[in-house]
Amino acid sequence: LWTPGNIIEDSIAKVRDQVGSDAVLLGLSGGVDSSVVAALLHRAIGSQLTCVFVDNGLLRLGEGDQVMSTFARHMGVRVIRVDAEDRFLGRLKGVTDPEQKRKIIGNTFIEVFDDEASKLANVQWLAQGTIYPDVIESAGAKSGKATVIKSHHNVGGLPEEMNLKLVEPLRELFKDEVRKIGVELGLPSEMVYRHPFPGPGLGVRILGEVHKEDAITLRKADHIFIEELRRADLYDQVSQAFAVFLPIRSVGVVGDNRQYAHVIALRAVETLDFMTARWAHLPYDFLDLVCRRIVNEVPGVSRVVYDITGKPPGTIEWE
Ligand code: XMP
Repeated sequence: LWTPGNIIEDSIAKVRDQVGSDAVLLGLSGGVDSSVVAALLHRAIGSQLTCVFVDNGLLRLGEGDQVMSTFARHMGVRVIRVDAEDRFLGRLKGVTDPEQKRKIIGNTFIEVFDDEASKLANVQWLAQGTIYPDVIESAGAKSGKATVIKSHHNVGGLPEEMNLKLVEPLRELFKDEVRKIGVELGLPSEMVYRHPFPGPGLGVRILGEVHKEDAITLRKADHIFIEELRRADLYDQVSQAFAVFLPIRSVGVVGDNRQYAHVIALRAVETLDFMTARWAHLPYDFLDLVCRRIVNEVPGVSRVVYDITGKPPGTIEWE
């Protein structure tokens, strides 16, 4: 019988059997999959687990603190937080090409993670939040069946170079199953039912070159959008929603002043598989409210637009 409780017990037994008394390392991103792995492994092997959380400077507002408070403070998981903002933003300086940005962010992550791993003595296992669809997708990519439109860096790379054995307790599960397990393990439902967030983070939502000030601006705008979606009970009705920073300026009047400032685009989509999507038909009054708040509360933004492009032809992310 498939129940979250059974799956958890089964996985715990398997993991214990697999790793014995060895130490296990996990890259915790704060996303659903790695969060569920952290909670599951913590229950299975307690202090044998060490998580590394890399703050790449491209996360959403308060995200790093949230991860630390959920896992380290509340659950007692050992989490090493690495503040690598300068390293990431330094590498991204002058880079405008989206694929190049993705590669740099992916490679820098591996470097930072590797550095941390090498400081930990005696780790034999690397845990990963690989789920069944990732297994299928990467098999397709390897055999050349899938057309790579955007490179994703969720699967692959790490273990070969690090000489670690892999433990992947979610490998046979679908996303909805992973979520149910997460809830059963006591993770907050806002975390478990969060919209997907790309590995390169705000790096692909700040168009062109990434500047620190623009990340700060985007974080504030995005936070307002998400906060209002939750408040209006619309968050769970859309599959993914976020703000995008456009590095162009437009004229607006904010308060009594004429402002030549940046543009924020809002994107919200409805989809089942993220392969195709329709733009969410959010109520005009709602969009109006979000726009007013962003222009009033976020310095350096004078205009807000709403993206009404489906996928195809548009992708969900802007880069
Ligand atoms: P697109 O933009 O290709 O996005 O329509 C489809 C889904 O994938 C997410 N996405 C990414 N996730 N690394 C990730 O981990 C990436 O580089 C990346 N690019 C897109 C996107 O947020 C959406 O959910």
